[in-house]
Amino acid sequence: MTAHDLTSCSSISRRNFLRSASVVLATGPILTEAHFAYAARLETSAVPEFSMNGIYLDANENPLGPSENARKAMANILPNGGRYAPPLYFELLKLSAEQMAVPTDHVAVYPGSSAPLHYTVLSFVSPSKSLVCGNPTYEAAQRAAEVAKAPVRAVPLAKDYSHDVRAMAKADPNAGLIYICNPNNPTGTITTKEDIDWLLANKPPGAVVLIDEAYIHLSDAASAIAHVKAGKDVVVLRTFSKIYGMAGIRCGFAIGRPDLLKKLDNYGQPGMPITGMIAAQASLIDPDLVPMRKKIIADTRNDTFAWLKANDYSFIPSQSNCFMIDVKRPGPQIRALMAQDGVHIGRSWSAWPNYVRVTVGLQSEMDAFKTSFKKAMDTPANAFNDANPKERVGTARSPILS
Ligand SMILES: Cc1ncc(COP(=O)(O)O)c(C=O)c1O
Repeated sequence: MTAHDLTSCSSISRRNFLRSASVVLATGPILTEAHFAYAARLETSAVPEFSMNGIYLDANENPLGPSENARKAMANILPNGGRYAPPLYFELLKLSAEQMAVPTDHVAVYPGSSAPLHYTVLSFVSPSKSLVCGNPTYEAAQRAAEVAKAPVRAVPLAKDYSHDVRAMAKADPNAGLIYICNPNNPTGTITTKEDIDWLLANKPPGAVVLIDEAYIHLSDAASAIAHVKAGKDVVVLRTFSKIYGMAGIRCGFAIGRPDLLKKLDNYGQPGMPITGMIAAQASLIDPDLVPMRKKIIADTRNDTFAWLKANDYSFIPSQSNCFMIDVKRPGPQIRALMAQDGVHIGRSWSAWPNYVRVTVGLQSEMDAFKTSFKKAMDTPANAFNDANPKERVGTARSPILS
């Protein structure tokens, strides 16, 4: 990038490089899926240490990892790892804004979407302004609301497992933030464009809607970025941790009106790894990557669903890389039994203690899942040795969490 380019990016540089000179407010811990998954793993697994050898279907990771192009780009840039490389930041910002057709000052780049999720909650809730969210949903927003000592109104999902936007809009006239995870984690279910449009038109005045699109590329859900373009009170989150397979590399975006994004800056401006920036860029310019991976993951998911159906297991159809199975007994029992086979499935939520979340892995991993799951389900419930898991569902705290 030339000096001219830098000058022409001066509005970007002012906002993103000198984003909040003055106050950084107390944030509390930023929790990620890795924290929640690891905490649950410690409840049921005899192996507290992380090992790469087992089959891990518990953290909604993408076993395909970064794309070939992203790997090459990272290998090429490694010798420059001693640099902060701000031009890369501007290039990524420009590219992503162009692709999403929003102005560059409507995008902020982060190392993943956990930080902007946490900061958005802190920015818009308070002891007198609640967080409204689905139930069950991804826990990070609620944990951030706890940091802010804000009330949480957890609204059960609708019968079709979408967010019940009408109940959410009514949940609290003093709502500060309404969190919609679309597709939802853990159910992998969709909230329709019509419902999100309705929510934005009918939410309590002053409430901001946070649409977490971590899994959107895996599904046919419509993005809410159109509402950002329309100047609505909405922040959209995207991550490279899911379809792009970059959970360990780190990159994500917050997309919103500049006045909304500016509030997030008060809580911190985490630096970007150059590997994350260059791999994100290489992923975004690859037109085949998203459709190819969407199909691979859908094929594996549908194969697993066909098997579950054929074996009379009850599950919630999902459009994402995770789904819920009703194991008709406390979820940790099945998780603990499967962990003995080295197959680590995901946690249960307190709203649905008899369901477990399973991440879609490689076909070979799902084949191992089938064998281990059937074996665990065939184990009589009363034969279960409860000395192993602690029966704490949805409140998992590991040494990392506490
Ligand atoms: C719904 C949802 N939002 C956000 C995140 C944050 O992911 P990351 O910080 O890796 O971008 C996750 C991770 O699993 C998630 O499931």
